[in-house]
Parts: sequence; structure tokens; C-alpha cells
Amino acid sequence: MPIAARPSAVRASACLALASLALLSACADEGKPVRVEGGDAAVGKRLVAQYQCGACHAIPGIPGATGDAGPALATIGRLSYIAGGIPNDPAQMVAFLRDPPAHKPGTSMPALGLTEQEARHMAAYLYTLR
Ligand code: HEC
Repeated sequence: MPIAARPSAVRASACLALASLALLSACADEGKPVRVEGGDAAVGKRLVAQYQCGACHAIPGIPGATGDAGPALATIGRLSYIAGGIPNDPAQMVAFLRDPPAHKPGTSMPALGLTEQEARHMAAYLYTLR
């Protein structure tokens, strides 16, 4: 009897394994970074280092980026809002990066003179941080 019970136990656990694989791949899909039209994350990463965003932000993967004047950007790619109230989508991210005070009056993040293209690359990189 115990022997007869075994194959179904094996089948049940194989089924569980498959089910969790399916779950995993569903999560992986959901976890895909947001695409930014015309943005290249590798270029964005270099720009973020070059503009020294890390003077004010802790940013994993950017050497020396340990600032704490602004929020850590470790999970910015999966937050629903930018700066606490701006819906986090590529267009608004690019606009915010180019001119934070225009989008959040009174913010202490300054406009750093980014071009539209630079902001797109940076946004593409930021969406990989999740
Ligand atoms: C002088 C300090 C300073 C610099 C330099 C700076 N930031 Fe910020 N940043 C801030 C502050 C402060 C906030 C919080 C804004 C708010 O909520 O008012 C912020 C917010 C942000 C946010 C939204 C974070 C969140 O969790 O909602 C992003 C994204 C961001 N900055 C990216 C950048 C990038 C990219 C650079 C470089 C181009 C940069 N910052 C340079 C101070 C700075």
C-alpha cells in the first residue's frame, strides 16, 4: 500500500513544482523593467555616475553613490509614485528628472540641466533598479 501511494505523491510534488515554476515566470514577466522609448540603460548608468546623482542618493551599483539628501533609489523601478505623488511612468520620470521643481514645487532636488535624451537614458537605467 505505501508503495502504491508513492507515484501519486511524486506526481503531486511534480505538479506543485510546475505550478511554482508557472508562478515564477508570471512574476518574472511582471518584473520586467519599464521600457523607456529611446533610452539605453547602460548609457543612463554612466550618466547617473557622471552627473553625481549619488551625491544626494544612495544608488546600488554606482560606486560612491551613498548620498542621503534624497531618497535611496534602490527600488525606484517599482515604486508607484515619484517623489511621493507623481505617477511613476516613463514620460513623467523623464520630465521630473529634467526639472524636478516644475513637477514638485518646493522640492530640494535641483534641475541639473539634463537634455531630454540624457533623461531618457537615465530613466531607462532607473527602471532597472527594483
Ligand atoms: C542636491 C541633491 C540632489 C541631486 C544632485 C539629485 N537629487 Fe534626486 N532627489 C533629491 C531629493 C531631495 C529628492 C526628493 C524629492 C522630493 O520628494 O521632494 C530627489 C528625488 C529623486 C527621485 C525620486 C525618488 C523617489 O523615491 O520618489 C529620483 C528618481 C531622483 N531624485 C533621481 C535623481 C537623478 C537621476 C539625479 C542625477 C541626475 C538626481 N536625482 C540628483 C535630491 C537630489
